[in-house]
Amino acid sequence: MNIDFTNVPKHLAVRTQEKMQDVLMDPAGVGPAIHYYMIRGGVSQKNTTVWEPGTISGEYLKTYGHYHVGELSENYSIVYGQGVALLQKLVENENGEMLADQVEEFRAIVVRTGDEVFMPLKFGHLVVNTGKTYLVTIDDSPVDFEDRDPSSFPGHADYELVRKMRGFAFYVVEDENGQPALKKNPLYKTINEVDLGGLRVLE
Ligand SMILES: [Fe+2]
Repeated sequence: MNIDFTNVPKHLAVRTQEKMQDVLMDPAGVGPAIHYYMIRGGVSQKNTTVWEPGTISGEYLKTYGHYHVGELSENYSIVYGQGVALLQKLVENENGEMLADQVEEFRAIVVRTGDEVFMPLKFGHLVVNTGKTYLVTIDDSPVDFEDRDPSSFPGHADYELVRKMRGFAFYVVEDENGQPALKKNPLYKTINEVDLGGLRVLE
């Protein structure tokens, strides 16, 4: 087998509490120093993500979330654990620009070991760890190792729209019975269509 080891030092990235404060329901909440670990291999070698378990002021640990730049969909395989995938498509203006605070369609999908999730074109996505163990996924998004920060912030992903809104349209929180539920992010103006995947919405 002929594998090129050149990019191995660029494969690992981690997302810290400091960075995640941009998108937490409670930015001042106490969390782990590192929320998740990314090992990027791109289309051929695949990307692995590993989440720490736990909550911060009631919100489960999650990935930051992003929209893809260009015509790019993505497949996720849940290889271990349990979680909730959040997908949202924003309203676009007449120039085709996404409006950060207006959601065309929001979907929550409860996932566990063995499940596959397809992230369609234009749908921003993040995944939440609602279990007591690590959550582990494999995905097939491309990585350009010539990017400035290929593993932590790959060029195909737009994080700014999520940062601006301090997360997605709903946060995934632990309810009084220790079960996952949703809590609306008050910064969003409109959400046109929702599929909450059977999860309750807490007031
Ligand atoms: Fe992605």
